[in-house]
Amino acid sequence: MRVESGLKLDDIVLQRRSETDFLPASEEVLAQLTGAEWLWNLPGTAEEKQTVGRMCGEGCHGYEQIMRNRLDERSWRLMVFRMLHYSGSPLIVRGRARGTLEQEEMIVKFLARVRGPDSPLGPVKVFQRAHGPATNVVVTEYELPHVLLATHDVSGDSKGNIWYSSHRTPFLGKLDPRTGIVTEYQVPTPAPGSGILPGTHRIQVDKNDIVWASENWAHNLVRLDPATGDFTITRSRRARKP
Ligand code: HEM
Repeated sequence: MRVESGLKLDDIVLQRRSETDFLPASEEVLAQLTGAEWLWNLPGTAEEKQTVGRMCGEGCHGYEQIMRNRLDERSWRLMVFRMLHYSGSPLIVRGRARGTLEQEEMIVKFLARVRGPDSPLGPVKVFQRAHGPATNVVVTEYELPHVLLATHDVSGDSKGNIWYSSHRTPFLGKLDPRTGIVTEYQVPTPAPGSGILPGTHRIQVDKNDIVWASENWAHNLVRLDPATGDFTITRSRRARKP
C-alpha cells in the first residue's frame, strides 16, 4: 500500500491478552515464539533440548518452522532422517549424516512426544520483547529480478552496495539501496546438465571490493571482480566430478 504524505493511518490499539508473562498457546501466539521461547516452553530434558539445538538449530531454519508441525512418530522419523542425511536447498543430495544414530533417535522421540498430533502444550512464557525506541525501525523492501532466488547471505561493499548470494540460482546480485537498481552476475559454474545444483551460500566482499562466495552444492570457491566482471572459480577438494 503506497503511503502518500499526509495520509492518516489508524492508531494501533493493543489489548492485554494476559496479566502474567504466560500467554495462551493459541496458533497466533505460537507463530510468534522465538526459538529460545520454544525450547524454554517445551517439556524435555536439557540433553534433549541441547541435541535439538545442535542438530536442528544450526542455521538452516528456525525452530518455528519445525514446531509449527504436529506429526506422529513415524512422520517425525521420516522428516528427521531427511534433515540429517540430505543437503541441498531442496534437501535432495544424500550426504554424510549429521550427528549419531542415538542423537537422531533422541530427536525423533522428543518431537513425537512434544509435537505429536495430540501433544498438550500449556500457556507459554514469552521473553521480553523490544520496546520503546527499539521498535522504531524503517524496513525498506526491494524487488529483486528473479522469483525463487532464495537469497541466502548479504555483504556490503565500500560504495554502500548490498551484495547477495542466491541459494537456488547461479546469480550473484548487487543492490544499490539508493536507487533500488540491481545488477546481477551469472556464476559460470556448475555446467548446465552436470546434475549439480547451482547456487551460492556464503558471500563476503573484501576490503578491495572483491566479491567472494561459496558454491556449496558444486563445492567451489567463487571470486568476482566487479570492476571487470571476471570470475575465478577454485574447485575445493570435495568438488564433485561433473
Ligand atoms: C533434526 C533437525 C531438524 C528438524 C527436526 C527439521 C525439521 C524440519 C521441518 C519440520 C521442516 C518443514 C517445515 C514446514 O514447511 O512446515 C523442515 C524444512 C526444511 N529443513 Fe529442516 N529440520 C532439521 C534440520 C535441518 C538442517 C540441519 C537443515 C539444513 C541442512 C534443514 C533444512 C531444511 C530445509 C532446506 C527445509 C525446507 C524444505 C523445503 O521446503 O523445500 N533442516 N525442517
